[in-house]
Amino acid sequence: MNILIIGNGAREHVFFKLLAESFAKTNLFSINPNAAIQKLSSATYKPFSFNLVKEIIKSSTIEMVIVGPENPLIDGVYDFIKSDSEINHVSVIGPSQNGAQLEGSKKFAKDFMYRNNIPTASSKTFTKETFLDACDFLKKSSSPYVLKADGPAAGKGVVILESVEDAIAELKSMLIDSKFGESSKKVVIEEFLSGIEMSCFVIFDGKNYITLPYAKDYKRIGEGDVGLNTGGMGSISPVSFINTDLDKKIHEKIIKPTINGIIKEQINYKGFIFIGLINVDNEPYVIEYNVRMGDPETQVVLPRIENDFLKIMLAIENQTLDKINLKVNPDHFSNVVLASKGYPEKYEKGFDIAGLNNVEDSIIFQAGTTLVENKTITNGGRVLSVVSRDKTFQRALKKSYSNIEKINFEGKTFRKDIGFDL
Ligand code: AMP
Ligand code: GLY
Repeated sequence: MNILIIGNGAREHVFFKLLAESFAKTNLFSINPNAAIQKLSSATYKPFSFNLVKEIIKSSTIEMVIVGPENPLIDGVYDFIKSDSEINHVSVIGPSQNGAQLEGSKKFAKDFMYRNNIPTASSKTFTKETFLDACDFLKKSSSPYVLKADGPAAGKGVVILESVEDAIAELKSMLIDSKFGESSKKVVIEEFLSGIEMSCFVIFDGKNYITLPYAKDYKRIGEGDVGLNTGGMGSISPVSFINTDLDKKIHEKIIKPTINGIIKEQINYKGFIFIGLINVDNEPYVIEYNVRMGDPETQVVLPRIENDFLKIMLAIENQTLDKINLKVNPDHFSNVVLASKGYPEKYEKGFDIAGLNNVEDSIIFQAGTTLVENKTITNGGRVLSVVSRDKTFQRALKKSYSNIEKINFEGKTFRKDIGFDL
């Protein structure tokens, strides 16, 4: 089967690896691949555009397109393929542009949750025209203040501030000074929720759904979860504090109403739903929806699944997920991300990565890497995910950290405290 996978990070490296190991013979195609994905690809292309996607589908007789990251979905790649009679026979794993608004517009997601009685922080949305009302609203709210640019902002669109003066200044910069361009034309001001966060993953075929194991990610650059937000510096699955009671609440109060809402509102959706949750006094609330798998969570979630990944992808297309009996490995998986020095701010790239072949008993998923003269060199902020498994997450982490000693590149940066809060 010929499959085009859009995306080139560690999450997509997992997809490539699992599809390469599938029961069926697969030919995998990539766009702007990292070093590892390049090695697993039958052919590679660049640079990314919807027209290139169409060309690849035609020239390589692609039968399935799997979309890893959110941006192509928010930009409507599903609708682009499905509305073109030359290529609309292809299966697309990922929602329509309408469905992708669950991630692409905070206001859309909040309204969806309120309509469907899904627990989430209370909020109000403001525009340039209602800036003064927004200031009044902030003055009447209590600290900390949560401001969210409505649209995508490369992970920087959520700002949490302690003082009302800072909150008003930030609001002005978003609404009046267009800090995030179109994306901050609307700003959602939200009640602050205090608790521990976790990631929940659902696979949906438009009729049936299955849930994947929970995971926890470590978003901040600094140890103890301080400093700037990153794409994610590590992850763990399973999550020890999610007991049967909390799991049941998540299913009844969040997953089922989300799925029922999508069906009732006739949102065209076949793909992954990633629900960012926060546990407030044993009650789960939705922080955000994403319309894709998480990164770095995928690296610890999908390797736990013993079913053939291609069979799951085919079941999404054929709407037969109800026939999939998911087998989850009970071992604990841990992932420690190796990043470039300076990330998530400015960093250099182009450094040789040494020692990848010395790794034992961990799997390396590559993100910001590239092949130059057959050598793997750094090419991004997050460079590698070092994933290990064992009977406890502490033992799994120990393996990741011991293998990290064997991998070297200039500026290698990582958090030494993944799992510290469990
Ligand atoms: P988001 O992009 O919506 O996931 O927000 C980024 C991060 O901001 C989340 O992972 C949370 O850590 C934090 N956050 C977002 N909304 C809230 C909220 N209502 N209360 C507390 N923290 C929040
Ligand atoms: N791990 C968070 C994300 O993928 O957005």
